[in-house]
Amino acid sequence: MKKRTDHSSRSSEGLFPRFSKPLERAENYISLRAGMVERTFRHTYHAMPPVGWMNDPNGSCFALGKYHVFYQFHPYAAVWGPMHWGHFVSDDLVVWERLPVALAPDMPYDRDGCFSGSAIEKDGVMYLMYTAVADGKQLQALARSEDGVHFEKLGIVIGEEDTPRDCTQADFRDPYLFEREGKYYCLIGSKNVDGDANVLLYTSGDLLKWKLVGKAWKDGRTGSGIYECPSYAAFGETDALFLSPQYMKTDGVEHENIFCNLYMLGKLDLKCGAFCRTFESEIDGGFDFYAAQTLHAPDGRTLMTAWMQMWDRGFPTAAHGWAGALILPRELTLKEGRVLQAPVREIERYRTEKRLYPACDVDGELKLEGVEGDKIDLAFDLEPGESARAGIKLFVGGGQETCIYFDRARRQVLFDRSRMGTLIKAAPSEQDASLRRVRIEPKEGRLHFRILLDVTSCEVFLGEGERTLTGNIYSPGKGIVFFSEGGRARILNVEKYDITVPQGTDKDA
Ligand code: FRU
Repeated sequence: MKKRTDHSSRSSEGLFPRFSKPLERAENYISLRAGMVERTFRHTYHAMPPVGWMNDPNGSCFALGKYHVFYQFHPYAAVWGPMHWGHFVSDDLVVWERLPVALAPDMPYDRDGCFSGSAIEKDGVMYLMYTAVADGKQLQALARSEDGVHFEKLGIVIGEEDTPRDCTQADFRDPYLFEREGKYYCLIGSKNVDGDANVLLYTSGDLLKWKLVGKAWKDGRTGSGIYECPSYAAFGETDALFLSPQYMKTDGVEHENIFCNLYMLGKLDLKCGAFCRTFESEIDGGFDFYAAQTLHAPDGRTLMTAWMQMWDRGFPTAAHGWAGALILPRELTLKEGRVLQAPVREIERYRTEKRLYPACDVDGELKLEGVEGDKIDLAFDLEPGESARAGIKLFVGGGQETCIYFDRARRQVLFDRSRMGTLIKAAPSEQDASLRRVRIEPKEGRLHFRILLDVTSCEVFLGEGERTLTGNIYSPGKGIVFFSEGGRARILNVEKYDITVPQGTDKDA
């Protein structure tokens, strides 16, 4: 696997007693250190590590009566290090309860890390499939649990002998499990010896013995990287692959992050493994969105979670003892050949202080009494009219602001965090980490915005949810101002709520 700058760990684990059992040792460290994390930048309704480092969501599922989300976790320092699986459960996808660490690198075959993977329930037992890393090799391992808390490792189930000859063992990871018509399937990201990235499809009747079906996808767009964290969902007759490509070239608007995200729609042939693509788009055009993973709610909804951070940048919270969080899970639907995203409806249970406002013109700046805050759910429609740029300024205060606006000439919504006060160091090969954009057309002259803020996060849903922008903002200001430049705009249907989740996931504090 390509080394990223933050994968070099500087942990304080040597200062702590050596437990013979790595899981016990991790829990002991968390109970000693979680209360010491500096809380200024902590979210209130997003899953975050109690202490240390979090990256990809893993094993997100509804199983044994609860929602579960595991995550890539290095408890001992707020930098990437030997990967454990942290574990949260929830009844409503908003308030997450921390459970003991589920997996630690404690076997010869996973001693260098328990990398990303997924979960599935079979006959009342919960199974996790993850990438076991040792000696530069990546293989797929299985663990099982009857209580959804304690996991027993069952060993490697997709080994070297199951890896296609034309794939390298160094990049062969992130199994995503799903079931179709009584059979189990698994997608794996891998590297072809010819330099292309592959997404492989395997099948099994019992989760233990696996057989390669074929290559779902293969192309050379990821440079020296691969499609990490493949995921899958079916919307009726349409199949969707969700992929996290490394090093994909930007076209100036899409794929601006070095580690970006995309979904493909089409048909996955379960007999030969091939995926026939009919459409492709970025999932989220913001700064901080990676490793998206889909899951299914018992009521039939298709949901998605993702890491709300980005590789190789500066992490302002690392100095506070933690880094990384997950997005608020989203509901996915398919409409007219596009995936639409919406915040999970359960967030509405936590709305307080409802405020509605009459339509008004904006020419310059406009403040609406009561529209402010950094833990809010705010919706409005914008009629850009003849304005050159019009939208909203968030986290305003002390000379700082973050702007989200429609640019009439470019036909884009831009997310500008260049004046947020805290400079985020861009990744080495990234042009900048302060401006992101998506193409979108207002419908009948009007564009819908829904924005969720949570202390240091900002999730923007545009139109019917066909475009989203997610980013972290580190500014203490709570002011909110509508604005237009170069002409008058109109703001309609403003609806604002506070989000009040008393203790959120921070019960260890
Ligand atoms: C994606 C990723 C995965 C890998 C994990 C390691 O962010 O690189 O491919 O399994 O993180 O933590």
